[in-house]
Amino acid sequence: MNKPGTGEPVRRRQAPVVPTLEELVAARLSRRDVLLGTVAGSLAVLAGCAPVAQPTAPPVSTTDTPLPPSRFDFQELKRATGEDHAVAEGYSADVLIRWGDPLFDDSPVFDPKALSADAQSRQFGYNNDFLGFVPLPLQQTSGQARGLLCVNHEYVSSNLVFPDASWLFDGWISAETCAVELAGHGGSVVEIEKADGRWRVVVGSPFNRRLMGHGTPMLLTGPAAGHERLQTSQDPTGTQVGGMLNNCAGGISPWQTWLSGEENFNGSFIGEVDDDHPEARNHELYGVPSGWYQWGRFLPEFNLAAEPRSPNRFGWVVEIDPLEPTSIPKKRTALGRFKHEGAESIVAPDGRVVVYMGDDERFEHVYKFVTRDRFNADDRAANRDLLDNGTLYTAKFNVDGTLNWLPLVYGQGPLTAANGFSSQADVLIETRRAADLVGATPMDRPEDIQPSPKTGRIYVMLTNNDERTTAQIDAANPRAKNTAGHIIEISEKDGDHAADSGRWDMLLRAGDPADSGSGALWHPSTTADGWFGSPDNAAVDAEGRLWVATDGNEGCDGLWGVETEGVLRGASKAFFRAPNGAEVCGPCFTPDGGTLFLAVQHPGDGRLVTYNNPTSRWPDFRDDMPPRPSVVVIEKRSGPA
Ligand code: FEO
Ligand code: CA
Ligand code: CA
Ligand code: CA
Repeated sequence: MNKPGTGEPVRRRQAPVVPTLEELVAARLSRRDVLLGTVAGSLAVLAGCAPVAQPTAPPVSTTDTPLPPSRFDFQELKRATGEDHAVAEGYSADVLIRWGDPLFDDSPVFDPKALSADAQSRQFGYNNDFLGFVPLPLQQTSGQARGLLCVNHEYVSSNLVFPDASWLFDGWISAETCAVELAGHGGSVVEIEKADGRWRVVVGSPFNRRLMGHGTPMLLTGPAAGHERLQTSQDPTGTQVGGMLNNCAGGISPWQTWLSGEENFNGSFIGEVDDDHPEARNHELYGVPSGWYQWGRFLPEFNLAAEPRSPNRFGWVVEIDPLEPTSIPKKRTALGRFKHEGAESIVAPDGRVVVYMGDDERFEHVYKFVTRDRFNADDRAANRDLLDNGTLYTAKFNVDGTLNWLPLVYGQGPLTAANGFSSQADVLIETRRAADLVGATPMDRPEDIQPSPKTGRIYVMLTNNDERTTAQIDAANPRAKNTAGHIIEISEKDGDHAADSGRWDMLLRAGDPADSGSGALWHPSTTADGWFGSPDNAAVDAEGRLWVATDGNEGCDGLWGVETEGVLRGASKAFFRAPNGAEVCGPCFTPDGGTLFLAVQHPGDGRLVTYNNPTSRWPDFRDDMPPRPSVVVIEKRSGPA
């Protein structure tokens, strides 16, 4: 994501305690997951050296054994950039809904020269990220022709929204621009239907809804609700908050609610607290305040000087019931407070629900939440507050390929008064510090974590970490200055997602395999078009195939199909390409797999670009229209292409 006047926050850490290189090498040599490269190549990468000796030496291409056909039978897209999007031949990729499009019968027509918070609150929001599809009726598992699209609006690219905006914070910011920004944040529920072979938005549907960064009542629930650290002068109960912010990825729960992860909330705050303030250490660990937005000039809840505890009301997973348009969204504190990326879930064999979550920042952690109670497939209402009780775990990736899930429970291990924790509320509000103390593995920016309903295995997108030093590499984060990221596969013990241990394996190390210094490891059938960097979001389709969307793939973001099974495991093919400046988010399939939705986020953006010089005017391509983040719907063309 790009922010006016600043870059992504950098959280600097001391070098973690890591095994010696010799220990790493010995353990890795004995592991079956050195499959994708030669031992020499793997060792070079582990050592942080340039792996000059054929790091991706093919395990199969030196034999006469023919490769099986790819499970992805489309013709691969060429690596390129351009002002328009592109999809593999034989598929349609049409814009379904754009920033500013109407959701209600009384929504004003979008006019980029006359933006107002009131208009934005009746229109589709900015920078669509997560997409979730809830079929209507719920029970329909094939031939979907109607459903609710749940959409996160992660942030607003103010430089492309306001004609007068600059990358500096002077001259153009007003109470009204701030209100427009807050109204562009949040989320949308949009009913869509397929008519005459095309998906369209049902404007005026009673299900349609806007949730915003400010002015949308929400509740804080679970163990931290009501705690004094969540109390502000506006809400002395510590249970209420007027909006959700920076909602990035998410998930649809087994009972078809929308789980939406609040990510970079630190950018929403300005002001200061004294160094000896009780929240000073907490705010510092989350990068609060980063001041990407100046709302705190006009609204005290975004100014630490006025409301020093207010940031504690953000950074949660929000549960929203798209089937109940008047329901109050709930921030489920039991799932912890961090820069939440996704919240994808699966039902464990005993019926408990497990939610996998990443904290997207350099050296942050992987988490899962296991509900105390069991999912009731026959009674949707019985699951209403399932996410308020359970255990939050963080992951420790061991050098021998095992994995431990460490519970974050007040009173256990170091999570006691000796370390400043007085209750489970403290553990949840300061999840990052709790995870550090129990010994979670600092990872290379964990983003979407996707369980496969077909295999039960879990795919962890680790987008990149250019801050990791050679001294900080470990088995699960094996590259220093990791600019391309990697994908880890987790197998829970005995296939039980509620288990407290499992195994992990490296699915691939991203980056250009032709660059001998990249340390990339792919199946060798991956072409010069097929590799990618910076995996961010993922989805598993109806056939159990993994799809990966990127954010930061050297200016050429898109969607790739990635093999996870058989001899082609670790091969990748390019399927969709975003327009200039954009990343691809929220890959989402209808349950029958017939339709794919993608979110194209921040089209036209780029270094220091402004309203008048975007890198693309996608999707309208009109001189009087700025680029507009939009949802694209993709289907296989029937009949001759
Ligand atoms: Fe909002 Fe981690 O991407
Ligand atoms: Ca993301
Ligand atoms: Ca996902
Ligand atoms: Ca992103």
